[in-house]
Amino acid sequence: MAKAKTIYTCLECGATFLQWSGQCRDCHAWNSLEEGIEEPKPAAPTGNNQRRSGYSGTEAQVCQLGEVHAEVETRISTGISELDRVLGDGLVTGSVVLIGGDPGIGKSTLLLQALASMSEQENLNPLYVTGEESPQQVSLRAQRLNVNVDNLKLLTETQVERIIHTAQRFKPRVLVIDSIQTIYTDILQSAPGAVAQVRESTAQLVRFAKQYQITIFLVGHVTKEGALAGPRVLEHMVDTVLYFEGDSSSRYRVIRAIKNRFGAVNELGVFAMTEQGLREINNPSAIFLSRHEQQVSGSVIMVTREGSRPLLVEMQALVDASHMPNPRRVTLGLDQNRLSMLLAVLHRHGDVITYDQDVFVNVVGGVRVSETGADLAVLLAILSSLRNQPIPQDLVVFGEVGLAGEIRPVTNGAERLHEAAKHGFKQAIVAKQNAPKTPIEGLEVIPVVRLVDALRAL
Ligand code: TYD
Ligand code: MG
Repeated sequence: MAKAKTIYTCLECGATFLQWSGQCRDCHAWNSLEEGIEEPKPAAPTGNNQRRSGYSGTEAQVCQLGEVHAEVETRISTGISELDRVLGDGLVTGSVVLIGGDPGIGKSTLLLQALASMSEQENLNPLYVTGEESPQQVSLRAQRLNVNVDNLKLLTETQVERIIHTAQRFKPRVLVIDSIQTIYTDILQSAPGAVAQVRESTAQLVRFAKQYQITIFLVGHVTKEGALAGPRVLEHMVDTVLYFEGDSSSRYRVIRAIKNRFGAVNELGVFAMTEQGLREINNPSAIFLSRHEQQVSGSVIMVTREGSRPLLVEMQALVDASHMPNPRRVTLGLDQNRLSMLLAVLHRHGDVITYDQDVFVNVVGGVRVSETGADLAVLLAILSSLRNQPIPQDLVVFGEVGLAGEIRPVTNGAERLHEAAKHGFKQAIVAKQNAPKTPIEGLEVIPVVRLVDALRAL
């Protein structure tokens, strides 16, 4: 391959240079030049039409969508049903999946388990490319996981051209790159892990996957700020993005799809880290409850719905007198702006003052709740902590709180209530529209229309 020309593009003004410098010579911004490769120049337009109409460019082909025949996508099972679930029922051939997460959370473990299982399926011939560990280390991990890796091919290599070349010969149908931050391309001079390196290597791998219909897993490390190290751009280039959630000190690991061209997003896969690697948890609905011995204030159970499953989670709040001019509003596992909004609603429509209080809200177990159905639970947890009054342990709540102080219904209300009843909850406070038409055995449902009704019901 002819060596591509390296150019440096200013991220501020878009000017390009042949040499790197600390300051852009055009807009004088500092440290804004990024290494890249020169794109081929588009062919010059020909024909009279464009000249007459004043537009440049040649005509493109338009097709009738009804006449396009798409092949039914074939899916490969990874052998791990929780992973298949987040992928949307298995791996689509030719797709590129990015798995992100903090170092040490279990990315390599999960992929080794999946590859071991896939190596036992016929014709998949998976290839594990590692740029981080030696064959001995991988072998030791496989022993520890107690998986059969006799048929699994391993390649320790970090140059993307060599990886692709080798893969062309070995013809795997599934390829794992662990991790993309260690891979570099010969075209660029910057060090592995630099944004340009990661982006260009990924681009080459994506092209390779599409051309040869090979499924590729890319492992990406996440920085402290929670973004995939350097390149958020990677998320746009791949078909599916999965993130490991949960803190590494807890036993549970949650994988969430945040982008999926072939399935639902926000689907969760739940695992527990054990001595023998990651164990699937097929019925995770109640694992995140802390089950206090006695009633405590500031804790409320809600039923959320992540992907296609209801999940019982515990919302904890701590409200404490503040000594700061700007009292703190801290959330873990929830949107912080939403908390400020809810506190304003609580003040206006519930007459509860918190402007002299620090408010901390946490979702137990390191899960993230992104739906607005958590609003009511957050408010009741805050109120319970503020007044130091425990909320009954057999009560669940869910519902969105509007700015006018109304309680709005959530989707799949009946399913959530049934899940709560199944786990022995006796009472539920929900929006009126979520109250079931036929009573649920053992569960008393208290329908509310406005926030004051909910406060009164307590
Ligand atoms: P790893 O898969 O190496 O993390 P990543 O690739 O995301 O950086 O996970 C390593 C962690 O998992 C390590 O802290 C030890 C733990 N672990 C177990 O608890 N049990 C096991 O069987 C294995 C293989 C790892
Ligand atoms: Mg690893």
